[in-house]
Amino acid sequence: MNATERRKGSHIDVCTSKDVSFRCKAAGFEDVDFIHCALPELDCAKLDMHTMLLGKRLKAPIVIEAITGGFEKGGEINRALASAAQEHGIALGLGSQRAMLEEVARSSTYKVRDVAPDILLIGNIGMAQLRKYGTQKIAWAVETIDADALAIHLNPLQELIQPEGDRNFEGCLKLIEKVCKEVPVSVIAKETGAGISPEVARRLEAAGVKAIDVAGAGGTSWSAVEMLRSKEASDGAFWDWGIPTAVSTALVSRAVKIPVISSGGVRSGLDVAKGIALGAVAGGGALPFLRAWKKGGKKAVSSLAGCWANELRITMALTGSHSISELRRTRLLLGGETAQTLHLFGFEARAFANR
Ligand SMILES: Cc1cc2nc3c(=O)[nH]c(=O)nc-3n(C[C@H](O)[C@H](O)[C@H](O)COP(=O)(O)O)c2cc1C
Repeated sequence: MNATERRKGSHIDVCTSKDVSFRCKAAGFEDVDFIHCALPELDCAKLDMHTMLLGKRLKAPIVIEAITGGFEKGGEINRALASAAQEHGIALGLGSQRAMLEEVARSSTYKVRDVAPDILLIGNIGMAQLRKYGTQKIAWAVETIDADALAIHLNPLQELIQPEGDRNFEGCLKLIEKVCKEVPVSVIAKETGAGISPEVARRLEAAGVKAIDVAGAGGTSWSAVEMLRSKEASDGAFWDWGIPTAVSTALVSRAVKIPVISSGGVRSGLDVAKGIALGAVAGGGALPFLRAWKKGGKKAVSSLAGCWANELRITMALTGSHSISELRRTRLLLGGETAQTLHLFGFEARAFANR
C-alpha cells in the first residue's frame, strides 16, 4: 500500500469513527426558517422536484458529494453510492482522481457507469494536482470514467494543515482557466468545507467555471480530519475555520450567474431546501452518505437519499411550492448570526421575508 492509498483509507477510518464536525461554528441552516403555509393548495403527487444541472436532469436536486476512490474499499464505496444515486436520479461526485493519475490500475475504483448509466457523474481533481498533471492527463482521467463534469477542489486549508500538503498556490486561477478551455466537460469549482466568498466566485466564473459548489463551513472539518490523522501535536486552531454554508450560499448565488450547489453541513432534505431558497440549484452532502454506507452499505445509502428527497418534498408542500423554482423564490425568515453576517454584505432579512 503506498502513501495515497494509506491516506485515503485513513480519511475513511477517521471520518467514520471520530467526531470530525465543526465545534463552534454551524452551517447556519438553523438561522433559516420557512414561513409555514397552512393552505398549500397542491397535490403532493404532482410536485415537480426535478432540476437541470449542467445539462443533466436530476429527479431531485441532491448531490452525493466527493468522498473517495483509488483503493479497493474506495471502489466498493463508490459503487454503492453510484447505484443509490441511479435509483433516486440524483448526482454523484467521485473522490479525487489523483490516485488513478499516479497509477492507471486504480482507475477501476472510479468506474461506476455500469451501475449508474444515467446520473450526473462528477469527476474530481485537486487544485494542487493541476500543475503536476496538465490538461491532457486530466482530460484522460475524466474520459476514462465517463464523467459528465469535473470538480476542481480548492482546499488550501487542508493543504496547509497536512504535513505533506502543498504550499504554493500561485497561478492556480490561470490553471483553472486552462482546464476550463481544454478539458471537454463542464468544470465545477468546489471547496471542501471552508466555503467560497463572492469575490472568489466571481473570479472563478470569469475563468470559465460552469458551476460552484460552496462546500462551506459547519459540517465536516478537514482541519479536524487532518489533525486527528496526524501524530504531531496541534491545538486545532483552525478546526472551525471557514465561511458558514448558509452565508456562502446566499453570497455566491447573488454574485454569479452560474449554478450554485449548497453543501457543507447539509444534514437533511430540509437543509437542501434551505440552500435552494438561499439561491442554490441543488444541495449536497458527503459525511452523512459515507456514514450511511458504513452502517448498512448500498441499502442504507439509498434509504438516506430517499429520506432527503422526501423531506424536500414535505418542505415544498408546506411552503406551497409546486416546483424547485418556486421553492427558490419562497419567503424566508433569516435570524441569528447568518442574518447579521448577510446584513454586513447588504442583504436585508426584510427582503427575504417579503419577496
Ligand atoms: C472521507 C471524505 C473524503 C473526501 N474526499 C474529497 C475529495 O477527494 N475531493 C473533494 O472535492 N472533496 C472531498 N471531500 C469533501 C466533501 O466532498 C465535502 O465537501 C465536505 O466533506 C463537506 O461536506 P459534509 O459536511 O457534508 O461532509 C471528502 C469528504 C470526506 C468525508
